[in-house]
Amino acid sequence: MTSKPEIRTATIEDAPLMAKLEARIFPEDPWPAADIQGMMSVPYVYGHIVSVEGEDVGYSLIQGAPKAVADILTIGVVPEGRKKGVAKALLEAMFDVARELEVSSVYLEVRQSNTNARAFYQKAGGVEAGKRPGYYRAQGAIPAEDAIVYQFVL
Ligand SMILES: CC(C)(COP(=O)(O)OP(=O)(O)OC[C@H]1O[C@@H](n2cnc3c(N)ncnc32)[C@H](O)[C@@H]1OP(=O)(O)O)[C@@H](O)C(=O)NCCC(=O)NCCS
Repeated sequence: MTSKPEIRTATIEDAPLMAKLEARIFPEDPWPAADIQGMMSVPYVYGHIVSVEGEDVGYSLIQGAPKAVADILTIGVVPEGRKKGVAKALLEAMFDVARELEVSSVYLEVRQSNTNARAFYQKAGGVEAGKRPGYYRAQGAIPAEDAIVYQFVL
């Protein structure tokens, strides 16, 4: 039997832990702990960490503009924790934050080629709201890529 994902609100002290998860989730281009710490220190940025059976398996960051909109900055689950409802739990936690901020729409950008995440967002009720050409800049051998914007109406 799989245990339910447990969500907790992150603090700035969790930045190193989030960076460790980040390195497992996005091994090709992880955000360093200092960047995560910087994001966490901005007003109305909220982090969540999710664990299953006591083991941390994913995290998320959302930035709100109170009474207006919110942007999901990141969401991810380590490879061995996927397809068990873990990201869905993170998404719900972020939507709860957004509702508390009286936000009616939540947006996010995703690489056009990230079919896994796009399937996840679509299942969760997200709708394609536009495209940002060249949003992801070229990095070494990785070419620039467009971002697809998804919108969730709360
Ligand atoms: C995208 C990601 C966050 C999904 O996490 P997850 O914990 O596996 O997702 P969940 O188990 O909560 O899935 C929720 C629903 O989405 C669906 N889903 C998740 N991944 C899917 C995939 N690869 N293909 C099709 N559907 C998928 C699930 O089947 C589930 O549907 P259901 O509610 O009908 O059962 C995860 O694959 C990940 O961390 N990827 C790498 C990081 C990344 O790309 N993040 C997004 C950057 S914008």
